[in-house]
Amino acid sequence: MKTLIVYYSRTGVTKKLAQKMALELDADLEEVVDTDKRSGVIGYLRSGRDAMRKKLAIIDPLLYNPADYDLVIVGTPTWANTMACAIRTYLHNYAKDIKQVAFFATRGGEAEEKAIKSMAELLNLEARAELSLTSREVMRDLFQEKLSKFVGLLK
Ligand SMILES: Cc1cc2nc3c(=O)[nH]c(=O)nc-3n(C[C@H](O)[C@H](O)[C@H](O)COP(=O)(O)O)c2cc1C
Repeated sequence: MKTLIVYYSRTGVTKKLAQKMALELDADLEEVVDTDKRSGVIGYLRSGRDAMRKKLAIIDPLLYNPADYDLVIVGTPTWANTMACAIRTYLHNYAKDIKQVAFFATRGGEAEEKAIKSMAELLNLEARAELSLTSREVMRDLFQEKLSKFVGLLK
């Protein structure tokens, strides 16, 4: 199965998970780049506000066309209980090109997962698998078992 992993990452947590997943699934990897300035305290505050308002971002041109893939796996950090603006933009632009989907998200807190739910609502496609991890689990390499289960559902 031809698989594409698409993700956005502001500080590297979601990126680390996406890279590991790409190795295990032998998938192509697309990092969505948000052209807005998201670093520092101002960037953090703006990002939270933009996510809450469901604002679309201006993203850099992509390397891969999702229509060329059997499965697209979409990953985001949780921002204000929803997805990052760059991923909202990606799904907004390419939903029609995605045949099968799976989702993953990272989050700072232990609270219930909402970013995946918001991505699923936007796409209106049943996900083949979902994976939600805390940034602590990712950065301390405490995710292999959950990742293997997720990958197993997609192979
Ligand atoms: C603007 C902003 C809003 C966030 N909102 C939430 C939130 O609502 N719930 C949560 O658990 N974590 C929240 N976080 C924490 C991130 O989801 C978490 O640190 C994530 O793993 C960062 O991934 P990244 O390094 O790939 O950007 C927020 C982070 C940012 C920057």
